Amino acid sequence: MLVDFRPHSRLRGTTPIDITTALVPVVEALSEDSTDLSKVRLVCDWVQYKENFRDVVALRPILARPERLPGNDPVVVPAGVRDDDLEVAVDVRRSAKLPLKEHTAELLRERAAGGTDGRVLLEGWGAGSRSCIWSFNARYWADLALWEKSTGRGYEQALPGGESDARNHDAARDLIRKLFAVWDPLAEAGALPEELYVVELGVGNGSQAKVFLDEFRALDAEHGRGYYRRLHYLMCDYSQHVLDLARETVAEHLAHVSSFALDATKPRTSLGFLRWKVFLVYISNVYDNLPTDEVAQLGGRTYQVQTRAYLPAEEARALAEQANTTPEELPALVHKLLRLGPALLAEAAPTHVADTDAAVAFWRAAWSAVRLDERYVPLAGLDLYELTPASNGEPAVSGEMLRPLLESGADVRMHVNNGALASFVDSLQLLHPFGTLICHDLFVTDVAAYRANFRGPGKYDGSVVNWVNGPLLAHVGRRHGFDVHYAPFAHRSGGNIVTMTAQVRD
Ligand SMILES: C[S@@+](CC[C@H](N)C(=O)[O-])C[C@H]1O[C@@H](n2cnc3c(N)ncnc32)[C@H](O)[C@@H]1O
Repeated sequence: MLVDFRPHSRLRGTTPIDITTALVPVVEALSEDSTDLSKVRLVCDWVQYKENFRDVVALRPILARPERLPGNDPVVVPAGVRDDDLEVAVDVRRSAKLPLKEHTAELLRERAAGGTDGRVLLEGWGAGSRSCIWSFNARYWADLALWEKSTGRGYEQALPGGESDARNHDAARDLIRKLFAVWDPLAEAGALPEELYVVELGVGNGSQAKVFLDEFRALDAEHGRGYYRRLHYLMCDYSQHVLDLARETVAEHLAHVSSFALDATKPRTSLGFLRWKVFLVYISNVYDNLPTDEVAQLGGRTYQVQTRAYLPAEEARALAEQANTTPEELPALVHKLLRLGPALLAEAAPTHVADTDAAVAFWRAAWSAVRLDERYVPLAGLDLYELTPASNGEPAVSGEMLRPLLESGADVRMHVNNGALASFVDSLQLLHPFGTLICHDLFVTDVAAYRANFRGPGKYDGSVVNWVNGPLLAHVGRRHGFDVHYAPFAHRSGGNIVTMTAQVRD
């Protein structure tokens, strides 16, 4: 048996984890079970998100064969590597609070008997980026007003630090001065285009745009070159509601602002006319909110982490009662909610939700209950795994880009951030040769961090959060001819936000 205790830093300090209550009972349950212990990985995480998709203990099958390998083709198993078939995952933040041994023994018994413990599946197995949790995420942004009215709190309160760093005036001023420093010599050489384009992806309530535009106008007045008159600020988001909200926020600057309803993972679908013309692509707290797969290198083999969303038995019973239905009928009702939204659901299914408020209550309860089952499926080859699809004339990004990260030493599991990667690669094509992409977000900047820290998915109110694989984006950026740098967000100390800067390589 291999034990991977990732949050080792929490074994020290003022309130260290007591390993005898947090972990040992799991080992005892495993020892008393008939599971082949030589093929077990026991993995411990500290899941820092209070709302998340995990049970305290989870059993994850490790499959021996890739999914789409034809018939009886032999499976290549590297010699001398571990050949595990079960991962037992424990959240040691919560495990000491349970009768852990009995709980684990019960899970192992269910598994041996082929049972499902009454959980209600919302979907079949698939790559993480295709899970319906992303439909929940999109629904949250589409119907943000209804959610916020129901909870009485705004989305920013759930962000790291309780408000978005996008509102930071010093950061905006710094950025604008750097833009002016690029534009002045171009203007002197007669090479500055008349139209000065800035694109923001994922605008939220528009605070970032407002701070930028206010500061830009003020600094330009001091600077005296008339850049504000030439400025075009393009606010982009997939939620029309959010775009409307942001337009109200920047009302004073509307002559310089346009709004685009678009998917941030392929901005050029709507902004193709701006290829090579944009001086700043500006993004904050969006990459961590885009769909992602996870991959793992375990015992010398490469796996995709497949997931499927489910509702635990007890929560499913309560939710079914709340919506005057049965647990078996719940998946159809949940998917209808995700498709229609709460207001229309109340019209389409009045016997289940009497009005919009009841539909929002159902939505919140379903979201709170959703968990993800996980399993490891061997990848038939990294080159057969497309990290992003071919799009807007750009070729797909090959899974081969993961190789240096996955083969960086001991076992590792990491996010692919497929949505962020697609957005990044597509946005680079928008940049003027002297342009910059700036992104404030939760970045993992060192592969080793994946071996020690849980990095998502977590739940922020109604949305999903996963930290972003910085080394992967930097690697792909370099292959596209860009320098990519990471630095802690310079204008707040102690936070987790990191600023990524990408510019054409000199
Ligand atoms: C956490 S908010 C960040 C808002 C703002 N940038 C800030 O830092 O406060 C995430 C924003 O990204 C948008 N978003 C998420 N996924 C998107 C997608 N696939 N395409 C376009 N916008 C998306 C959401 O609608 C929301 O406005």
